[in-house]
Amino acid sequence: MNARRPLVIGNWKMNLDFVEALHLVQQLGVLMKNRPVEHTDVVVAAPFVDLRSVSSIIDSERFAIALGAQHVNSQENGPHTGEISTSMLKRLNVEWVLVGHSERRVHYFMSDETVAETLRSVVRAGQHAVLCVGEELSIRESDEHEAFVAAQLESALGGLDEKFHALVTVAYEPLWAIGTGVNATSAQVSEMTALLRTVLRSLSFTSPQVLYGGSVNAENAALLVRESGVDGFLVGGASLKAESFYAILQACDDCYAIKR
Ligand code: PGA
Repeated sequence: MNARRPLVIGNWKMNLDFVEALHLVQQLGVLMKNRPVEHTDVVVAAPFVDLRSVSSIIDSERFAIALGAQHVNSQENGPHTGEISTSMLKRLNVEWVLVGHSERRVHYFMSDETVAETLRSVVRAGQHAVLCVGEELSIRESDEHEAFVAAQLESALGGLDEKFHALVTVAYEPLWAIGTGVNATSAQVSEMTALLRTVLRSLSFTSPQVLYGGSVNAENAALLVRESGVDGFLVGGASLKAESFYAILQACDDCYAIKR
């Protein structure tokens, strides 16, 4: 039995300017005030340029939404043109940071070493790191997905001081399911969630929080909560509209309420 509260994170990626972001958070906040999600924690991971406005509205309206960033540099400051540090994010009330999303690994060449360094800088800053792992289709087809994902976890989390473990969440996001409309089946998610938990326990994590991401919508979210061992979701496309994101929150909340 998992003691952790379920968590749903909206990853807006490179979408929504600050005006659109304000509009979306306002709509989402109203939906959540009308019918609260009681059992589920909610995070939105906004583009850097939206963070200040989104932070202000969450604060002034007292919305039950925490703020996340999609990436950060592992260095504290200095000659890193175009980059952002954890302390800059903290000043904007950012509590969550995605680390090693596959789009950063693949398109921006984020190495396993950089993922590990970045994760350490996030947790040392006292923020929650959401470590993203997952395999490409060719790796799954050659039946190497378990070893591949286990190696990603070990490389990012091996040797991490145990005092930081509670700040780490892991998101299993198979690349073939991201933005494709093809989500992993409950059986695939169950199998990988169990594997992730086993590897995390071998790394001395006592109650690891494991999310799934990849074409999540309200229907498959409800199914995955019922039939797999996930603790919540990392949602891309469906987090860009208040109604579709809220439907996932509700589906998740209702199912976890029944499960408890
Ligand atoms: P998706 O994206 O929900 O659009 O598949 C998920 C993610 O990349 O985090």
